[in-house]
Amino acid sequence: MQPVKVGLMGLGTVGGGTVSVLSRNAEVIARRAGRGIHISHAAAKAYNAAAITGLDQIEKITDDAFAVVNDPEIEIVVELIGGYHPALELVMQAIANGKHVVTANKALIALHGNEIFAAAQKQGITVAFEAAVAGGIPIIKALREGLAANRIEWAAGIINGTSNYILTEMRTKGRDFKPVLKEAQALGYAEADPAFDIEGIDAAHKLTILGSIAFGIPLQFDKTYIEGIVRIDRQDVAYAEELGYRIKHLGITRNTGRGIEMRVHPTLIPKRRLIANVDGVMNAVLVKGDAVGHTLYYGAGAGSFPTASAVVADLIDITRALTTDPENRVPHLAFQPHAMADTRVLPMEEVETAYYLRMQAVDRPGVLALVTKILGDRGISIEAIIQKEPGEEVKYVPIIILTQRIQERNMNEAIALIEKLDVIKGHVTRIRVETLE
Ligand code: HSE
Repeated sequence: MQPVKVGLMGLGTVGGGTVSVLSRNAEVIARRAGRGIHISHAAAKAYNAAAITGLDQIEKITDDAFAVVNDPEIEIVVELIGGYHPALELVMQAIANGKHVVTANKALIALHGNEIFAAAQKQGITVAFEAAVAGGIPIIKALREGLAANRIEWAAGIINGTSNYILTEMRTKGRDFKPVLKEAQALGYAEADPAFDIEGIDAAHKLTILGSIAFGIPLQFDKTYIEGIVRIDRQDVAYAEELGYRIKHLGITRNTGRGIEMRVHPTLIPKRRLIANVDGVMNAVLVKGDAVGHTLYYGAGAGSFPTASAVVADLIDITRALTTDPENRVPHLAFQPHAMADTRVLPMEEVETAYYLRMQAVDRPGVLALVTKILGDRGISIEAIIQKEPGEEVKYVPIIILTQRIQERNMNEAIALIEKLDVIKGHVTRIRVETLE
């Protein structure tokens, strides 16, 4: 059988890795797919030819991505340009031309996936996006196929390697935020705009996709609560450790029965949990299914070859499916389009979680009582409380409080009142706590 002809857009970190993996593993890939997979046409604005093995096997390389999606010989188009535009126009054109699509573009799928999948469904073609979430970890396949028997209860993941790297360096080496971020950029892990990493947007894109696949709801990026690691201080990392917790940037989606939680934010997790020990740029996703219980998926969430591993796996899946009935392929968001649910996504105010609070208080009798009364009046129960020695400003002492679970609405009210007390200086630092049991 003739090899399937693929068009590739983008020859950067992931594009270059995809060409190299297809070339060096050509034989084993052909044995798995049933035929060869050959990139015959590529487009890129710029690339480092010396770093890409197998580039010489591509017949045509230009800087015109639209020429790739309009090439009549191409059956599968791989979009590795990233960003919203022209990626959206290219993908929609490829679908209109009846070509299958593979993409690693989490931003595109999170914001425009509903429209893309509807067009793909109409054309009877596949849009595959395993590389969009957690790089090389096959988490989409695991949720959509491996765990298809389960009612998913919740999933929680470290899904931004750059944030995890920064938090790990802060904890293990006491380093500051900025130089570590620079390092993550130099290593090729950070997004083109690293604000996407540290402000939680990249993780929110990935969580939006996970939530839809776990619960069969349309993609709703705009309803995902987003908080990044920008305001995490070295002292919070140290205090959390003292209390037996680690701070991780988590994406959490949970079916509560009242609605679906969709949130990304820094989170205190008990140190003893496996996921609390996932360090550096590594990613991990913990999934709780009613039948299987807890399962944990761990691996490289970014980087050239790990992400290429997911892109090429999608190419193999599509190549296999090219010979089968398109009506019977695995649905894009795990559930059949007519069987999608309209379960609401919970507003953050209705989410229930425990909290770590840190505040600077005047060192005199009665201050703690004022704070605990505000918490108590709102039904917020205290789990632990520590008062530290005064820091540089001897007038103030840091107070750290761990609370039990309570609705975010009550905590917002309490924090607003505590911040108004004239014995409290500045803002209250709030980090959510999850035991992941
Ligand atoms: N910037 C992302 C991260 C790359 O740090 O995880 C992979 O999506």
